[in-house]
Amino acid sequence: MQAVIDYLKQNEDRFVDELCDYVRFSSVSAQPERREDVRACAEWLLKRCLQIGLEARLCLTGGHPIILAKTPAAAPKGTRRPRFMVYGHYDVQPPEPFDLWTTPPFQPRIEGRSLFARGASDNKGQHLAHLNAVEAYLKTGTPLPCDLTFVIEGEEEVGSKSLAGFLKEHHQELHCDAVVVSDTGMPSKEQPALTYALRGIAALEITLHGPSRDLHSGIFGGSVDNPAMALAQLLAQLRDKNGRIAIPGLYDDVQPLSKFERKEFARLPLNEKSYRKFLGVPQLFGEKGWTFLEQRAARPTLEINGLTSGYQGEGSKTIVPSWAKAKLTLRLVPDQDPAKIIKLVKAHLKKICPPTVKLEVKSGHGAEPYLVEPTGAQAQAALRALKTAFQRKPVLMREGGSIPIVNDFKKILGVETLLLGLALPDDNAHSPNEKFDLDCYANGQLMSAYLWQELSTDTKP
Ligand code: BES
Ligand code: ZN
Repeated sequence: MQAVIDYLKQNEDRFVDELCDYVRFSSVSAQPERREDVRACAEWLLKRCLQIGLEARLCLTGGHPIILAKTPAAAPKGTRRPRFMVYGHYDVQPPEPFDLWTTPPFQPRIEGRSLFARGASDNKGQHLAHLNAVEAYLKTGTPLPCDLTFVIEGEEEVGSKSLAGFLKEHHQELHCDAVVVSDTGMPSKEQPALTYALRGIAALEITLHGPSRDLHSGIFGGSVDNPAMALAQLLAQLRDKNGRIAIPGLYDDVQPLSKFERKEFARLPLNEKSYRKFLGVPQLFGEKGWTFLEQRAARPTLEINGLTSGYQGEGSKTIVPSWAKAKLTLRLVPDQDPAKIIKLVKAHLKKICPPTVKLEVKSGHGAEPYLVEPTGAQAQAALRALKTAFQRKPVLMREGGSIPIVNDFKKILGVETLLLGLALPDDNAHSPNEKFDLDCYANGQLMSAYLWQELSTDTKP
């Protein structure tokens, strides 16, 4: 094991260079014009897996390719040993708006211990840490106590459309004892974390259609409804003055937070004032009766992600726009079901939409919330690995983000997921100037190296 740790240390600079190469690909899954960049990124990763000594292939699904890589078979024939799967995603969120980046998003820049680039933290740096740890085992000839399968996909940021089908199709080959995902966060460099719950998500797009074309607002304004105004009024009715979502039935399936969990939330070392400052808002806002930590991780929300209508160019244009559009997502908590929630939202919108405009609602991707008790043997093993690698006691957290596929790991492969994130709160995921902390990268590699030892002693295949 010491050889593995030494190897990781000796190769630290090269691992940073490799992460720089990896983030140069603009693998934005949401933008069709980047399709070739996404593909090139997958090819780079495939090559990297092969160099490490993994048996790897690119799996085509019709969407962006999935990388499937495995450690070479090492157990004597006829014997079984534990197998774990590492999941990650090489696709990234759109980098726009470009002008808010200090340096271009796909040209990595290192400043102090931060590596700036789109995808550095979410998620390229985090799963590369796991690959580097395996490289250390394979290149030093240190026997791994388990077999490993890597599944790195290219569609996580757009809802993992192809992956569930892939899991079903290959479920025998993908058999494993647990999945490990580093795609969540930790409260600070000094606090490694095991995340035991994620929120789910339900996405939809609303369009209000008004006149058949943009109209002169002087000639026609006042006699016809303005779809942008109607949409603003419609959306404003979706939350009440207490910050609750004003859609009948929406909270029906929400599991109450236990006293124990509320106590754990209160122990997290984040205070309201510094959080407010960090976000640059004059005052926080959230559902009354819950702390901001609970609001952002354990309560449902409805967000407007995008709002479009009328003239967006410079100067003014006096029109009544023909249409107005809003992109919405709801974050869901156990036991809310995305399909049921979409139905409730659609029914409510239909009910409150004025007769002066035509309502169109398209539902988008959805994912169920995830919750796993952090008391099992595997969770305990993961906590030990975190502690050894970071030299600090880990914390248990719920997180507000979503990783759509983790529920399918449970449903299709029958296994739980250990969420061992390496992102810091100021990593700017999905924002301009995303960065990854190089200490988290190095400690993440150590954590991965220890994890296979800890997990294998506690898992009966
Ligand atoms: N890494 C995030 C998920 C995440 C972030 C979980 C922080 C917990 C804490 C992931 O890449 C992501 O952004 N997921 C999307 C999924 C969506 C597009 C379906 C999300 O949460 O918005
Ligand atoms: Zn993301």
